[in-house]
Amino acid sequence: MNLPATTAQPITLLQLSDSHLSKDPQARYRGQPADANLASLRPGIQDLSPDTIVLSGDVSEDGSPESYWRMGGFVRDLAPRIAWIPGNHDERGVMAEVFDELDFEAGPLIEDGGWQIALLDSAWPNRPEGELTEKRLAGLENLAEDKPALVFVHHQPLAVGSPWIDKYPLIEPARLWERLAGKPVKAVAFGHVHQIFEGEHDGVACLSAPSTAANGVREAPKFSPSEQGPSARWFRLWPDGKWETGIFEATGI
Ligand SMILES: [Fe+2]
Ligand SMILES: [Fe+2]
Repeated sequence: MNLPATTAQPITLLQLSDSHLSKDPQARYRGQPADANLASLRPGIQDLSPDTIVLSGDVSEDGSPESYWRMGGFVRDLAPRIAWIPGNHDERGVMAEVFDELDFEAGPLIEDGGWQIALLDSAWPNRPEGELTEKRLAGLENLAEDKPALVFVHHQPLAVGSPWIDKYPLIEPARLWERLAGKPVKAVAFGHVHQIFEGEHDGVACLSAPSTAANGVREAPKFSPSEQGPSARWFRLWPDGKWETGIFEATGI
């Protein structure tokens, strides 16, 4: 008797980044209405119905509890599981207080759909650039060899070709790449660059999520607004290690 083949279903993960909300919901970020731009994504996210949402930093522009509560209220019913890392504009302590109360997860390592998801904190107070110290990388020691992995970190671990944001990268990215060598990591996903970027490093995909608030032209000396509207990055992850990714906009994927 032939048993029917079982088709393992993928999970859908949505990476929301750089929302830059402020205490005042009317506040503008780089001329854009940050709250309204984030809200414009809501119907599309409901249609996408992600299993997990990862907030990849710069949730807040001013580190206010109000901004984290508003983000928490926005995402909490959009996915059963929410994870987060801070960005350089965030206040980690304030963020953790709010997001812990909402049962959002900070890792550093979670499992989802047969994948390992690493959540690395590269942000430091009053520093626009990022850094991963040995302590912050320690969570990667527990990466299993037999399950695919996806790494989230706020700062870009390689130049994206944008002078205005490549000034503030993840410094000493070799520390990260050394830790990932030989591990089953498919991609490193980041935010911070406020544009769409797709590259690779030694066979590991390096992918940005654009900002839900305001995006910039890549090859500009200073931040210059681009045509890219509020957007995000989606992933489909199959338990056998197959994966897909793309850009999510207000109209969906
Ligand atoms: Fe940002
Ligand atoms: Fe940032």
